[in-house]
Amino acid sequence: MNMSQDVKTQSGMTRKQAAKAVGHKCLVSRRNFLIGAGVTTTIMITLNPGTPQAREVPAQISEYPRKFVAKLSDLKLNEPFDFNYPDEGEYSENMIVRMGVTAGGGIGPDQDVVAFNYACTHQGGSLYDSYKADTKSLGACPLHLSTYDLTRHGILISGQAYQSLPQILLELEGDDIYATGIFGLIFGRKENLHG
Ligand code: FES
Repeated sequence: MNMSQDVKTQSGMTRKQAAKAVGHKCLVSRRNFLIGAGVTTTIMITLNPGTPQAREVPAQISEYPRKFVAKLSDLKLNEPFDFNYPDEGEYSENMIVRMGVTAGGGIGPDQDVVAFNYACTHQGGSLYDSYKADTKSLGACPLHLSTYDLTRHGILISGQAYQSLPQILLELEGDDIYATGIFGLIFGRKENLHG
């Protein structure tokens, strides 16, 4: 199904913001997108553009805070930098790292800068300080050994978990990196944003 990024907003979003949101949505399943949503906004999108079947339908997108995380030039190869997002609450600890290899969702000239939540999706074990530069992974979780692949949107490599690690959406403006959203649901939360 084709989905045009020529979006008409109904809720005060700029066309640029809406287009970015639709672009992000394409990288996750509809279910994951919705369960990971925070504050939701309804926009109109065009399905099957340029065809007789073209039609506009409403779609829900989520709006997250936009937060400065780090300067690209300050990130050292394979040295994670920690930050909180989307708030300062429980399980909001994340890491950003420049891995030196292209990764799904990666930003920067080499698309190798990614960010992930530290809470294991199994039972919330902390993955703090578990980044492995040789395998570009987070883990093993100290509780039941789950390990996640940071080059492939945080999918599980091994262990007890069955959901990918939530990936923090990043945008680059000049040398400044911003967090703008989350793929997946943070452990222990019914919504990523507490409101
Ligand atoms: S809490 Fe991490 S594997 Fe169980």
